[in-house]
Amino acid sequence: MCSTGVTMNNKKLYFSLTLIVLLLAFGAWLAIFFQWTVPQARIATSVTSNSSGHVAALEPLFNPPALEDAPKSIREQVMIGYKIMTETQKYASEYVGNDLACTNCHFEGGRSKDTLSLVGVGAKYPAYRNRREYTADLALRTQGCFERSMNGKAPAPNSQIMQSLLVYYQWISKGVPIYSNPPWLGVPHDLGIDSKADVAAGKKIYADVCSRCHGDDGHGTLIAPALWGDKSFNDGAGMHRLRTFSVFTWRFMPKSGPILTKEQALNVAAYAHEQPRPKYMATHPNKIKRVIKLPVEAIK
Ligand code: HEC
Ligand code: HEC
Repeated sequence: MCSTGVTMNNKKLYFSLTLIVLLLAFGAWLAIFFQWTVPQARIATSVTSNSSGHVAALEPLFNPPALEDAPKSIREQVMIGYKIMTETQKYASEYVGNDLACTNCHFEGGRSKDTLSLVGVGAKYPAYRNRREYTADLALRTQGCFERSMNGKAPAPNSQIMQSLLVYYQWISKGVPIYSNPPWLGVPHDLGIDSKADVAAGKKIYADVCSRCHGDDGHGTLIAPALWGDKSFNDGAGMHRLRTFSVFTWRFMPKSGPILTKEQALNVAAYAHEQPRPKYMATHPNKIKRVIKLPVEAIK
């Protein structure tokens, strides 16, 4: 009796011990499982995959730093770059052939979002502009704007003007991840409407809406720069493209608050496009000839 009782108790004891060991093991496994998977899940939600299956960085944030927060070693160049952008006539006079300043198109020296923004260009370049023909860095893009938008001459890459602008672009791009393709950069290719431009309707919109700031003759006033004529950008400028002018106008003009419909913006752009302006003359080669070519298989 007694011996059977002891055997029964031993069996119960073994059973309970096994159960405790199993529970402990399960507990430990649970702890390890959650410690390892929870942070992984967070990382997984903080990156997004693009269509090609590559893991892309977070959507870039528009948050340009204050100029005076630039580190001491670059602060003076940042400030000079900003002055060149905003007071181009004064600080880069020898390279300018009209009455414009960079900031007339890149508002607030490119530091605004509601403009042809330059915040993040430091993370976008050097870039392929057209794989078949040439690549471009920011010096080349800046030379293009001097020659075309400013109807002037291209400053050399090793000039102080160019170097200060490059430092400035880099500083206002702080925090934008390289190649993150900020959505606020550049202009959309067109307004996405099919209507044909009506120049006569555009002339009326100009008189009704634009002339009070840009002048009856489009040559500019004290409050707004020239849209055509000798004091404006030349016919090689990006703004001379119908689509750039119309998108810019639809999104940002009048400066006091945009009001035009897409059709009206297209019409006024077509009217401006017909007005006389300086002819583009190249002062430096801005298409780099592609000399080295790789076989197609090498770049797949
Ligand atoms: C309230 C005044 C005002 C009105 C109205 C206005 N603009 Fe402007 N526009 C400006 C100012 C100011 C700038 C320069 C912005 C700067 O330097 O920050 C500018 C810049 C521009 C530029 C780029 C610089 C240049 O000279 O090429 C274009 C293009 C332009 N305006 C087109 C138009 C068109 C088209 C209209 C009419 C639909 C219009 N604007 C109406 C004030 C105005
Ligand atoms: C008349 C308007 C105008 C003026 C003035 C102007 N730009 Fe531009 N700029 C443009 C346009 C339009 C683009 C092309 C935007 C696009 O299509 O992506 C551009 C592009 C650029 C870019 C490349 C931006 C990008 O996102 O790829 C830089 C850098 C630049 N400009 C610098 C300057 C500097 C520096 C000045 C003054 C010396 C200047 N611009 C004056 C209209 C202007």
